[in-house]
Amino acid sequence: MATDAGHPLYAPREIPKGSGKIQMPPDLALIARKVGKSSRQNCGACHFNGGGGDAVKHGDLDTSLINPPRQVDVHMAKDGANLSCADCHTFNEHIPSGSRYQIQAKDPHGKDLPKDDHNRATCESCHGSTPHQDVKINHHADKVACQTCHIPEFARGGIATKTLWDWSTAGKRGPDGKPLFIQGEHGHLKYSAEKGDFEYGENVRPTYKWYNGTVRQITMTDTIDDSKILEINAVEGSASDPKARIWPFKVMVGKQPYDPVNKTLVVNHVYGDDDTAFWTNFDYAKAIQAGMDTAGLPYSGQFAFIETRMNWFITHMVAPKEQAVPCQDCHTRSESGRLNAIGDIYLPGRDHNDWIDLFGSLAILGSIGAGLGHGAMRLISRRRQSK
Ligand code: HEC
Ligand code: HEC
Ligand code: HEC
Ligand code: HEC
Ligand code: HEC
Repeated sequence: MATDAGHPLYAPREIPKGSGKIQMPPDLALIARKVGKSSRQNCGACHFNGGGGDAVKHGDLDTSLINPPRQVDVHMAKDGANLSCADCHTFNEHIPSGSRYQIQAKDPHGKDLPKDDHNRATCESCHGSTPHQDVKINHHADKVACQTCHIPEFARGGIATKTLWDWSTAGKRGPDGKPLFIQGEHGHLKYSAEKGDFEYGENVRPTYKWYNGTVRQITMTDTIDDSKILEINAVEGSASDPKARIWPFKVMVGKQPYDPVNKTLVVNHVYGDDDTAFWTNFDYAKAIQAGMDTAGLPYSGQFAFIETRMNWFITHMVAPKEQAVPCQDCHTRSESGRLNAIGDIYLPGRDHNDWIDLFGSLAILGSIGAGLGHGAMRLISRRRQSK
């Protein structure tokens, strides 16, 4: 697919450039004639290909979901619930419910599937907030998103997702003087003269962050702090925020051009038939000047590269219940504990306090083995309340 921000290809294009492989645009007329019940395939024609190809942007939306095995997605599998995208994303005047800009990080309404309130794209709207027989698991729902336990890894469908994109190395030419393109494993581009270096991952463990549904997007006119890594879309939330829960994310590692004098991001003019386009001349100075001129934004004439991070929350590819993240992946002192970066919460089994730890681990053992745990749990709760 093209780098056209959600638009499909409208004309045949050689992708990757120099590969001799021509990709054909989707037949939009044919798609329009088939408008009726939407399928995973036709929603996916756009959403699986964001960012320039299959699985590039999202780690949890790729072509493996057209016909996934149950292992990959219990909801969309034919031998699972066989849901289409629109079963969860009900549409209201063409505006789909569910969004990465205004997500419902915690759904207080619980089950509301029968009434079509166009507010359905949460786990709770079908399962409610207490779907487990085990109260110990249900207790987590307030602080831990359902996705955090039920999507242990993303990109599980055999299609690698892009995890690193470094624009700073773009523009190299091979010995023949032609723009350089290097294929890596699985036919993915490892290096592209047009876009720089890439890395990919399959079966990736998410990064966990507090998230209350609010995202702070950096815009083109924002002044940025270039003394540290720039979070393009920092997510908000903390342990004391009643609307926040711990969510799983794919964090895309990036490096992109910016103006070190004005301290803003810059517009890079990549594609077009003129001689300033980066993909024609591979000259950043010209391409950025042209981009900033066209956008009418102030530009010092100097550019450098800044390390960036982008957060993509993970919500598809729910695994079978047996594969939910095991208790000890979070409740542990191990260096590989999943929630080690979440410092502002007391986690039994992880945090230093011998007395409570003993009971914390008893509670965890109890859930696996005998009914010991319940007593211990009550003790913990009582002690926490009395603090
Ligand atoms: C089992 C229910 C379910 C199914 C099936 C489902 N989704 Fe989602 N989707 C969600 C939930 C939950 C969210 C989080 C949105 C929120 O809470 O506001 C979401 C979010 C999204 C987002 C915004 C998130 C982002 O990272 O940009 C997109 C786009 C999306 N879904 C597309 C799809 C497509 C395309 C399909 C079909 C291939 C699909 N969804 C199938 C439940 C579902
Ligand atoms: C022709 C391409 C195309 C098709 C087909 C398509 N979408 Fe979208 N969709 C988009 C674009 C473009 C956006 C806006 C993305 C953005 O704002 O970054 C969008 C936005 C969304 C969002 C909100 C995403 C967000 O992060 O806020 C959801 C959810 C969604 N679409 C689901 C669906 C579902 C379900 C279907 C099938 C019934 C579908 N889309 C079909 C292109 C498409
Ligand atoms: C549109 C309704 C709907 C939504 C929304 C929904 N589910 Fe489900 N879910 C189902 C149905 C139906 C099944 C039964 C599928 C099966 O096992 O055949 C199911 C099954 C499950 C299972 C059990 C799988 C197993 O191994 O038995 C889990 C876990 C689960 N869902 C978690 C989630 C999570 C997490 C979300 C939010 C990302 C979610 N669900 C959103 C309808 C929904
Ligand atoms: C702390 C981890 C954790 C969280 C958070 C969590 N679950 Fe679960 N879930 C599990 C485990 C473990 C199982 C399997 C054991 C069981 O069924 O009790 C499970 C089972 C399920 C099942 C299958 C139940 C059955 O009886 O077959 C569904 C459906 C489900 N979860 C949905 C959800 C939803 C919806 C949320 C958010 C409100 C959620 N889970 C939050 C760990 C979690
Ligand atoms: C994804 C990480 C994660 C997993 C997996 C997980 N927990 Fe937790 N657990 C937490 C967090 C975070 C808290 C703190 C929640 C709070 O303070 O409300 C917690 C709290 C607890 C507590 C203290 C509860 C309370 O109300 O004081 C117990 C007991 C517990 N978990 C048991 C379990 C058991 C048993 C399992 C496996 C079935 C499990 N946890 C799986 C993250 C996890």
